[in-house]
Amino acid sequence: MRNCCLFKRSLFMILLFSLSLFSQESSPIKIVTPAPFHISEENSVGVVVEANSSLVEYFIIISDSNFTKRIDVNEKRSHYCENVPLILGKNKIIIDAFKDDVSVMQVEQFVYLTSKVYKEFKYPPQEYDRDYFHVDKKEAVCLKCHDMSVNEVPGVAFEDISKSNCYQCHHQIAEKKYGHAPAVNWLCTSCHNGKVGKYNKFEKDATKYTVPDPVGELCFSCHKKTKKVWHESQFIHEPVESGRCNKCHSSHSSTIEYYLKKPVWDLCQSCHNIDGSHITKTLRGAPHPTKGVKDPSRPGKDLSCISCHKAHVSNSASLLRSNTVFGLCVKCHKK
Ligand code: HEC
Ligand code: HEC
Ligand code: HEC
Ligand code: HEC
Ligand code: HEC
Ligand code: HEC
Ligand code: HEC
Ligand code: HEC
Repeated sequence: MRNCCLFKRSLFMILLFSLSLFSQESSPIKIVTPAPFHISEENSVGVVVEANSSLVEYFIIISDSNFTKRIDVNEKRSHYCENVPLILGKNKIIIDAFKDDVSVMQVEQFVYLTSKVYKEFKYPPQEYDRDYFHVDKKEAVCLKCHDMSVNEVPGVAFEDISKSNCYQCHHQIAEKKYGHAPAVNWLCTSCHNGKVGKYNKFEKDATKYTVPDPVGELCFSCHKKTKKVWHESQFIHEPVESGRCNKCHSSHSSTIEYYLKKPVWDLCQSCHNIDGSHITKTLRGAPHPTKGVKDPSRPGKDLSCISCHKAHVSNSASLLRSNTVFGLCVKCHKK
C-alpha cells in the first residue's frame, strides 16, 4: 500500500519535474528577483529578469514610479538587471516581452515601499512579506556575473567606490544629496555586521547582512563623544533612549540634512499629534505662528519643532532648548 503510493508520488514528481523543465525552456521571460509581494524600505528595488533570446527580442519594464525602460535581449546573456525606483505604498512592476514587435508574454510583480515615518505606509497589507535576498541559494544565480563577496577593509574608505562589490547592485543607496560617511565610503559591513538585536532576532540567518535593531549602540560605537554628552543630560527623548535612531535618520543618504527621513516638522508629527498650537495654549490663547516663518534664532532656517525643542536630549523638561519657558521666548523675542 505504502509502496504503491510512493510509486504514484514519484511518477507524479517526474511529471512535475518534466513539466517544469518544459515550462522553463518555453518561457520567454521569468522574474528572478524581487519575490512576489516583496516589502522594501529603500526607494528602489533590484529587478532581475531571465530571458530566452530565441523567444524574445526585447522587453520593457514599466512601473508605477513612472519608470519605463526597454532592454534588448541577446544570445550571449541570460540575465538582465535593473534598479527600478519605487513610490511609497503599492508598486506594480510590469515586464512586457516582445518578438517581432508583438507582445509574447507579460508578467507583473508587486512591491510595497514601507516607511517608519508615514503612518499610512507603516503597515503593508497582509499579502506582502519581507523577502531576504542574501542567502547562498539566491546569490548562486548571480555569481556567474557578479562578485558577491565582501571586499571592504574595515575602516578604510574605498578610493574608487565603484570597486566595492556592494556598489554594483546598490549604487543608488548613497546617491542622495546628504550622504552618511560610512555609507558614501561604502563601508557597508561596518553596520551590516550580521548581528541582530532584541527587535530583529527573527532575522538571524535570514540574511548575511543584518544590522542590529535597536541600532543605537552601533551608532554610538562611532559617535562616542555624542554618547558621552547625551548620557550626561537629564532628559532623553524616548526613541533616542531606546536606540531607535533609524526612526528619524536614514543610515545611508537623504535629500534632507542630517539624513533625516522627513523634513523636521513632518518627522516630529509622525509620532506626535501636535501642530504647534500647543504653544498657543501655553500663551493662554494668543496665536503663535507655526509653519512658514523664519526662525530668528537660527539664521536661514525656518521655524520648526527643533527651533524650540532638542531632538535628542535636554536639561529641561519637554526637551526645551533653554532652561525655562521664558528663556525660550526671549531667544526669538528680544525685549
Ligand atoms: C548574465 C550576467 C548576469 C547575471 C547572471 C546577473 N547579473 Fe546583475 N548585472 C549584470 C551586468 C552586466 C550589470 C551591469 C548593468 C548592465 O549591463 O545591465 C548588472 C547590474 C546589476 C544591478 C544594477 C542595475 C542597475 O540599474 O544599475 C543589479 C541590482 C543586479 N545586477 C542584480 C543582480 C542579481 C540580484 C542577480 C542574481 C539574481 C544578477 N544581477 C545576475 C549581469 C548579470
Ligand atoms: C548581485 C547584486 C548584489 C550584490 C553584489 C549585493 N547585493 Fe545586497 N541585495 C541585492 C538584492 C537584489 C537585494 C534585495 C533588495 C533589493 O532588490 O534591493 C539585496 C538586499 C540587501 C540587503 C537587505 C537584506 C537582504 O538580504 O535582503 C542588504 C542589507 C544588502 N543587500 C547589503 C549588501 C551588501 C553589504 C553588499 C556587499 C557586500 C551587497 N548587498 C551586495 C543585490 C546585491
Ligand atoms: C550607519 C549604519 C549603516 C551603514 C553604514 C549602512 N547601512 Fe544599510 N541599513 C542600516 C539600517 C539601520 C537599515 C534598516 C533600515 C532602516 O531602519 O532605515 C539598513 C537597511 C539596508 C537595506 C535594506 C533596505 C530595505 O529594503 O529594508 C539595504 C539594501 C542596505 N541597508 C544596504 C546598505 C549598503 C549597500 C550599504 C553600504 C553602502 C549600507 N547599507 C550601509 C544601517 C546601515
Ligand atoms: C562606522 C562608523 C559610524 C557609524 C556606525 C555611524 N556613524 Fe554617523 N557618522 C560617521 C562619520 C565618520 C560621520 C562624519 C563625521 C561627523 O560629522 O561626525 C558621521 C556623521 C553622522 C551624522 C551627521 C553629523 C553632522 O554633524 O553632520 C549623523 C546625523 C549621523 N552620523 C548619524 C548616525 C546614526 C543615526 C548612526 C546609526 C544608525 C550612525 N551615525 C552610525 C560614522 C559613523
Ligand atoms: C526623534 C527623531 C530623532 C531620533 C530618534 C534621533 N535623531 Fe539624531 N537628529 C534628529 C534631528 C531633527 C537632527 C537635526 C538637529 C538639529 O538640526 O539641531 C539630528 C541630528 C543628529 C546628529 C548631528 C547633530 C548633533 O546633534 O550632533 C547626530 C550625530 C545624530 N542626530 C545622531 C543620532 C543618534 C546616534 C541617534 C540614536 C541614538 C539619533 N540621532 C536619534 C532627529 C533624531
Ligand atoms: C518615533 C516616534 C517619535 C518621533 C519621530 C518623535 N518623537 Fe517625541 N516622543 C516620542 C515618545 C514615545 C515620547 C515619550 C512619550 C510621550 O511623551 O509622548 C516623546 C516625547 C517627546 C517630548 C516630551 C518630552 C517630555 O519631557 O515630556 C517632546 C517635547 C518631544 N517628544 C518632541 C519631539 C520632537 C521635537 C520631535 C521631532 C524632532 C519628535 N518628538 C519626534 C516619540 C517620537
Ligand atoms: C515656538 C516654540 C515651539 C515650537 C515651534 C514647538 N514647540 Fe513644542 N513646546 C513648546 C513649549 C513652550 C512647550 C511647553 C513647555 C511647558 O509648558 O513646560 C512645548 C511642549 C511640547 C511637548 C510636551 C507637552 C505636550 O503638550 O505633550 C511636545 C510633545 C511638543 N512640544 C512637541 C512639539 C512638536 C512635535 C513640534 C513641531 C510640530 C513643536 N513642539 C513645536 C514650544 C514649542
Ligand atoms: C524659535 C523662535 C521663537 C520662539 C522660541 C518663540 N517665538 Fe514667538 N514668534 C516667533 C516668530 C518668528 C513669530 C512671528 C514673527 C513675529 O511676529 O515676530 C512669533 C510670534 C509670536 C507672537 C505673536 C506676535 C504677533 O504679532 O503675531 C506671540 C504672542 C509670541 N510669538 C509669543 C511667544 C512666546 C510667549 C514664546 C515663549 C513661549 C515664544 N513666542 C517663543 C518665533 C518664536
